[in-house]
Amino acid sequence: MNYPSSSASCSQSAFSILLLFLCYLTSSSFAGSFLKCLSSCKIPPQQLANITYTPKSTNYTSVLQDYIRNSRFNTSTTPKPTLILTPFLDSQVQDIVTCAKISGIQLKIRSGGHDYEGLSYTSKSNNPFVVLDLFNLRSIDINLEDETAWVEAGATLGELYYSIWQKSKVHAFPAGVCPTLGIGGHFSGGGYGNLMRKFGLSVDNVVDAKIVDAKGRILDRKGMGEDLFWAIRGGGGASFGVVLAFKINLIRVPPVVTVFRVTKTLEENATDLVHRWQYIADKFDKDLFLRVFLQTFAGEKNKTSVRASFIALFLGDADKLVSLIESDFPELGLKKEDTKEISWIKSALFFADYPDGTPETALLVRKSAFPSASKMKSDYVKTPIPKDGLREALNRMAASGNIWMQFNPYGGRMGEIPESEIPFPHRAGNIFKIQYLVIWNGAAGAAVEKGNVESLRNLFKFMTPYVSQNPREAFLNYRDIDIGSTDNGGDGYEKAKVYGIKYFKGNFDRLVRVKTEVDPTNLFRNEQSIPPLRK
Ligand SMILES: Cc1cc2nc3c(=O)[nH]c(=O)nc-3n(C[C@H](O)[C@H](O)[C@H](O)COP(=O)(O)OP(=O)(O)OC[C@H]3O[C@@H](n4cnc5c(N)ncnc54)[C@H](O)[C@@H]3O)c2cc1C
Ligand SMILES: *[C@@H]1O[C@H](CO)[C@@H](O)[C@H](O)[C@H]1NC(C)=O
Ligand SMILES: *[C@@H]1O[C@H](CO)[C@@H](O)[C@H](O)[C@H]1NC(C)=O
Ligand SMILES: *[C@@H]1O[C@H](CO)[C@@H](O)[C@H](O)[C@H]1NC(C)=O
Ligand SMILES: *[C@@H]1O[C@H](CO)[C@@H](O)[C@H](O)[C@H]1NC(C)=O
Ligand SMILES: *[C@@H]1O[C@H](CO)[C@@H](O)[C@H](O)[C@H]1NC(C)=O
Repeated sequence: MNYPSSSASCSQSAFSILLLFLCYLTSSSFAGSFLKCLSSCKIPPQQLANITYTPKSTNYTSVLQDYIRNSRFNTSTTPKPTLILTPFLDSQVQDIVTCAKISGIQLKIRSGGHDYEGLSYTSKSNNPFVVLDLFNLRSIDINLEDETAWVEAGATLGELYYSIWQKSKVHAFPAGVCPTLGIGGHFSGGGYGNLMRKFGLSVDNVVDAKIVDAKGRILDRKGMGEDLFWAIRGGGGASFGVVLAFKINLIRVPPVVTVFRVTKTLEENATDLVHRWQYIADKFDKDLFLRVFLQTFAGEKNKTSVRASFIALFLGDADKLVSLIESDFPELGLKKEDTKEISWIKSALFFADYPDGTPETALLVRKSAFPSASKMKSDYVKTPIPKDGLREALNRMAASGNIWMQFNPYGGRMGEIPESEIPFPHRAGNIFKIQYLVIWNGAAGAAVEKGNVESLRNLFKFMTPYVSQNPREAFLNYRDIDIGSTDNGGDGYEKAKVYGIKYFKGNFDRLVRVKTEVDPTNLFRNEQSIPPLRK
């Protein structure tokens, strides 16, 4: 990959910055001064027109909506960007950052657009903002010789998996299960998936990065230094700069892996099985990832009920898996017929819920399949939830009608990495993470939204005694504005500490120190960013 040097950009020259200030002073609006700045950065007019969408552009709406993954933030009243910029070149990203700084307009950075609160493309305040959308920067360079790859931020996980598979059938990368996730947000927020018990998070396997910092410079690991490199591996990129690309270490997988999905209803003792699962899920062989997905469905007499799906990836063959489950989790009653021996790339399709026989090219599809509205929350569990608590939680799910829960097992490699190694702190001592989800039809209106969000919050409240406390930990990639926010990144340490401690525990203060060092004027900010300390 060829990274153009920054000399072509206006960001390095004091003289051009002076000129830009003059533009700024004579322009009437943030967006106007921002655009003027960009053109005086000498992005040729045709190029600038090619990457700029104003609300008047024909394609503004489609470019904005292409990477909205939550219908909740796809309404006529959702605050929208004054401009969308879709750079093709790293030097254009530099110019955009520099001009955002000079004009004072807020920059939102979007890669795959999956942020659960839409923070990459909307705003909770009325301040004008610009979206820097990275979907045109998505090349992937695989180097099998040293088993590494450079992946640009706008690439999706599906594109990464597909590119690895094209080069090698025995290499893979530990990351999320949804193929449309963007590298930029997913990795910089941690990134977990079904290989985590053996290999850790995505960011545990990141070895270098390229970012554009608040001064408009392109920096690699050496250039940015270990503190900033530490921060962008789990601390959220959007507080520190624009991540252009990550360099990753590929991992090795066997040519054949085994998967299964076994579903039990309440009548089939689902509650007992899930209860039992909590005692072993984090202690299994590292080669096994066995998650539980609790879903509501129309049961007998159409009465809403809950079923539990046990979904597994095993880095080995079916015989070994069946005997492992027989010895550690016999209650599940797993039979060899329940399992499938497939390639790792097919397991990526299986986990993404594609039917058998789906071609690998499905991983390249960038459109999201289900445009629905949703609200998510997360929790960490350190002692098994007693059976009564679990039963009541399932009852509440059934009563709500459309709350789902996902239990993702920890242990293995996750427990071996120290809490302060990277900003992501949820390591040893966690049995599993809960994801709470409520999904509804985005066209159903505000009353439905309110009811759904409230029932999710009530279930979350009910779970308080069973989950981590002081702090009640949360996963950054499961963005949840309920746990605290700042006024658009503008009101400092005390407010940020409320969510910061939940997402990062003791690492929050180090993130604040890094932020103060690299972005003292808080150019890179959003409703849940890391604030700089005022000097
Ligand atoms: C259907 C679905 C499935 C999911 N499955 C998983 C899973 O299996 N594992 C998991 O860990 N998470 C999962 N997530 C959560 C997901 O990892 C986060 O939403 C992640 O932030 C998405 O990254 P993105 O680039 O797609 O999102 P975006 O909305 O583009 O970005 C998310 C955040 O990162 C910032 N950001 C994005 N790109 C950059 C960049 N280049 N530089 C700096 N900052 C940037 C944004 O400003 C925003 O704050 C899932 C989410 C969804 C909707
Ligand atoms: C914009 O620029 C890119 C890269 O140079 C080019 O591929 C694309 O066709 C251009 N699009 C338009 C609408 O000019
Ligand atoms: C707008 O989108 C359409 C369809 O995606 C495309 O054909 C057209 O070239 C786009 N126009 C511009 C100006 O980008
Ligand atoms: C957003 O709305 C448009 C229609 O305006 C629709 O085509 C698109 O699928 C919607 N996307 C989401 C995620 O809701
Ligand atoms: C459920 O558990 C009960 C009591 O342990 C047992 O008798 C029954 O056979 C189980 N049912 C199923 C379907 O496994
Ligand atoms: C269950 O609900 C569906 C859809 O609402 C309906 O078509 C069906 O007749 C109902 N069945 C029973 C047994 O009530």
